[in-house]
Amino acid sequence: MTHYVKIFDTTLRDGEQSPGFSMNRSEKIRLARQLENLGVDVIEAGFPAASPDDFESVRQIAQTLTKPEICGLARAMETDIKTTWDAIKEAQKPRIHTFIGTSPLHREYKLKKTPDQIVEMAVKGVSLAKSLCDRVDFSPEDAGRTERDFLVRIIDAAIEAGADTINIPDTVGYLSPDEFGDLIKHLIKEVKYSDKVIFATHCHNDLGMATANSLAGVKNGARQIECTINGCGERAGNASLEEVVMALKTRHDFYGFDTGIETTELFQTSQLLQQITGQKVQSNKAIVGRNAFAHEAGIHQHGILANRETYEIMTPESIGVAKTELVLGKHSGRAALADRLKKLGYTINDDQLNDVFESFKRLADSKKDISDGDLDVLMFEGNTELDEWQFVSFSTQSGEEILSSATITLKNSITGENHTQTLTGDGMVDAAYGCIKSICGDPGNLTEFTMDSVTAGIDAQAVVNVRIEHDGAFVFSGRAGDTDIVRASILAYLEAVNKSLRYQQRIEEV
Ligand code: KIV
Ligand code: ZN
Repeated sequence: MTHYVKIFDTTLRDGEQSPGFSMNRSEKIRLARQLENLGVDVIEAGFPAASPDDFESVRQIAQTLTKPEICGLARAMETDIKTTWDAIKEAQKPRIHTFIGTSPLHREYKLKKTPDQIVEMAVKGVSLAKSLCDRVDFSPEDAGRTERDFLVRIIDAAIEAGADTINIPDTVGYLSPDEFGDLIKHLIKEVKYSDKVIFATHCHNDLGMATANSLAGVKNGARQIECTINGCGERAGNASLEEVVMALKTRHDFYGFDTGIETTELFQTSQLLQQITGQKVQSNKAIVGRNAFAHEAGIHQHGILANRETYEIMTPESIGVAKTELVLGKHSGRAALADRLKKLGYTINDDQLNDVFESFKRLADSKKDISDGDLDVLMFEGNTELDEWQFVSFSTQSGEEILSSATITLKNSITGENHTQTLTGDGMVDAAYGCIKSICGDPGNLTEFTMDSVTAGIDAQAVVNVRIEHDGAFVFSGRAGDTDIVRASILAYLEAVNKSLRYQQRIEEV
């Protein structure tokens, strides 16, 4: 029994495939880099057979990162496994994760196969994966609702075929902690070569028990947790990485296990995912929520002032929450900006620094003190290189006695031509969004529009998050910050519009 639990992050796969969490390639690479800084052992970078775009993102992550294992998900099918191998083979430590549904519901309704056929497919899939790649995970999907005898049988077969990690998914978040822990214990006892492999947990959160189930798995012998940043993932999500890691750290006395996670990177990683996807965590979310370390009640404040430990079981510093520093302003130069960005964990080249410096100077003209939060917003203004429609300029008019109107100019990056539109609307933002739709075409319905400020004060940057739904099933998010709320609204919407248009073109190409 070792005292190390591997952290397998599946934000870019299980998380990314859930509504509102889709990311473009550069966003995925940015997040993957931060997961490497965070110290995760394995990054499940995607499902390469799902689309050419997924394949290319996984391939680039495999080429870019050096420390973690880079894993691709594949159904237990020849084409999936070969495609996955092609995507990950350049990684320093490649891994294939192959799976097949094993519960009666999956066997009979989804796969329409007998138990014997399912075992045969699993063995074929694992053997093929092993012939290509040293590291192979096998998952019996919906293990939580699979007969125990059948689970033991298929896991025995997968280990003989070469799997080194056996992942036990509670795919629909059905089990309670006692049951899940007992399942892991039973499998470790009954599987013939269980001592030759690592057992992993993959718990969904449909009943709010994903973290508790994962930890119960560890208590009963699992040595790898599959989890995601902010608990994102299919439906109610997966076990939240920050929760399982901080539970193991804070209650080391109870669990007795270490992870390789640099916990001071947790907050920044959580923020990064929120910034990229526009999906905010609830304010009382454990570990990374806005209120996780806030003490409002007078009686609590009194205790905290006397001794922090009265109401705090871990410190904000331990997850990387630092006080916002007001560091830069109008007179700060390029070197000071580069230095601060480095301290905040950004790696950028000279060209990128030039671009950020331009935005920084523009911001400094309208805002006296530039905080770390402001710099984060600048850094997430997004890479618009791939966008079909690029922002050029806008003007708006509004008042009590006049109809609100907007004029927008966008450049089409394919033809190089500028397009201008003027429209009236129900307020300036509505008029501006009408102009964008009329220039770019229908991106889908705007289903969410929120605005926050980064810091306090009249010159604070507004951060706008929008979501567009296309075809009732696909969600595209956009986010932008500016001291001018209309400009921030336009840039956020344009980002989501470009994502939606890219998606629509992809569908037409297939
Ligand atoms: O939830 C699940 O069963 C999965 C598998 C593909 C591991 O995500
Ligand atoms: Zn899952």
